[in-house]
Amino acid sequence: MTDFTTLSPLQAPAHADASAADWWRQAAVYQIYPRSFADANGDGIGDLVGITSKVPYLQRLGVDAVWLSPFYPSALADGGYDVDDYRDVDPKIGTLEEFDVMVATLHEAGIKIVVDIVPNHSSDRHEWFKAALASPKGSPERARYIFRDGKGEHGELPPNSWQSIFGGSAWERITEPDGTPGQWYFHLFAKEQPDFDWDNPEVHDDFLRTLRFWSDRGVDGFRVDVAHGLKKDLGPSSEALESTFGGHDVFPDGQHPLWDRDDVQDVYAEWRSVFNEYDPPRTAVAEAWVQPHRRGRYATQAGLGQAFNFDLLLADFDAAEFHEIIARNLDEAAETGASSTWVFSNHDVVRHATRYGLPKNTSGTSGAPGGSVTSSGNDGKQWLLDGGDPAVIDAERGLRRARAATLFMLALPGSAYLYQGEELGLQEVGRIPDADRQDPTFFRNKGVEIGRDGCRVPLPWSREGASFGFGPDGAHLPQPEWFAGFSVEAEEHDPASTLSLYRDALALRRELQTAETLDWLEIGEAVLHVARPGGWEIVTNFGTEPIALPEGAVLVASGPLADGALPGETTVWLRR
Ligand code: BGC
Repeated sequence: MTDFTTLSPLQAPAHADASAADWWRQAAVYQIYPRSFADANGDGIGDLVGITSKVPYLQRLGVDAVWLSPFYPSALADGGYDVDDYRDVDPKIGTLEEFDVMVATLHEAGIKIVVDIVPNHSSDRHEWFKAALASPKGSPERARYIFRDGKGEHGELPPNSWQSIFGGSAWERITEPDGTPGQWYFHLFAKEQPDFDWDNPEVHDDFLRTLRFWSDRGVDGFRVDVAHGLKKDLGPSSEALESTFGGHDVFPDGQHPLWDRDDVQDVYAEWRSVFNEYDPPRTAVAEAWVQPHRRGRYATQAGLGQAFNFDLLLADFDAAEFHEIIARNLDEAAETGASSTWVFSNHDVVRHATRYGLPKNTSGTSGAPGGSVTSSGNDGKQWLLDGGDPAVIDAERGLRRARAATLFMLALPGSAYLYQGEELGLQEVGRIPDADRQDPTFFRNKGVEIGRDGCRVPLPWSREGASFGFGPDGAHLPQPEWFAGFSVEAEEHDPASTLSLYRDALALRRELQTAETLDWLEIGEAVLHVARPGGWEIVTNFGTEPIALPEGAVLVASGPLADGALPGETTVWLRR
């Protein structure tokens, strides 16, 4: 039996030149959901001082950059994606001065910072929206958002039947300044998130100002929320599509009234000229849930430069699926001059250690207590609806596969996006009392979607303590007892832990990532074997039966290696 845990990673070289314009191409980027990362002041909500205090942890983890989910003033109707003021810090989280200290501390540690920018909608507490409500119909204040008269004799019906992503109508009626029921405004997401009108030049100018504001403060890049949603055609011609409109389902190329319209790229061309005012140029990555063949439009070097590829996140743990997705995405990235992105988990989806532990593509009764699992995409939603019943998932298997999948992904050319807590092997928290839930999808869509709170539970840093070391007091979402065993304290000195695996792999990756090329050595039914430049080989056994371990010195493995064999659901990195 080879004890993979005793193999120490090669010494990590110094960080790549911080001024290099292409630092992002093969970066490992760690997503921080600020309210759930570390709470320094004990109010139960994570904060910027908390993040700064954990920079040594991030440095030891070995990430190249941090992506910060929204930290702006917000009523938290949608976890901070409802922004009151784009050029300030939420007082619940910190101050601009604390932001500056955090950026400086990250930079001293050689870690870049990417911030989330939310251009599709503001919050309903944004000064522009308040001004729109206080101003008359047809005013310039209303023209920054999408206001329409209602239908029906007294305008009492919404302008059309379009639904919001979070459930319910996408239109909300306002009360006019004189107290009478009035116009309706459009919101793709919660009603607290009115959509901007991106045909209005004022909106363009204000976002350019915001991009410069944060770039001037040293921010290295931006993650662009709902990048495919900004431009809309709510004119009469789009009404014809109403009967076929089904949320995210319909994506005719560039013609859908709401999503992925061709002219959204004009916005990003403007943004690119701002990014290029800086040295090195600021970077951007688009969150664009578009058809794969449209993704490249968001990743051109004249536009945002990179786009999230969620294909692996949506895939099963399956060699054929992984191969198809990786080969296609590497080709697509090469066409735009971007590098590919890889991601398994984020703040919007069920954690991958849990997804991979669910029965595959089952329908009807799973036979497990807790009822049926009808997921066709194995996305964990049904499991959540079943009350997050732990009996339905094989958590051990889920984690084993997650470790194997992540170790394979970390060896791919391109950027790896990691979500806080996955380095601990955290499972989704399935059982959260209704009274504690925060996600608007739960409230707007009860019974259909249970929401995303289960992946946003504050991190466990220690085995004990009021909030497992998250802060000196409680946590804003309840943490389960089993968090103790997944805490940083429990894992950091255990060479077999998931935290040690991530640390070892990230240190090695820094040394081994050179040219962005990859060769397929074996594409088997259950095995993928690839080679990267410099004698670096990666083998994943997607099956359950052991296979012969190819020749080479073992650098790191996602699980124990039996003598001369690579067990099922395990990845190994070799040096030939
Ligand atoms: C973010 C979500 C958010 C939505 C609306 C997204 O895609 O990732 O967390 O709810 O945009 O802003």
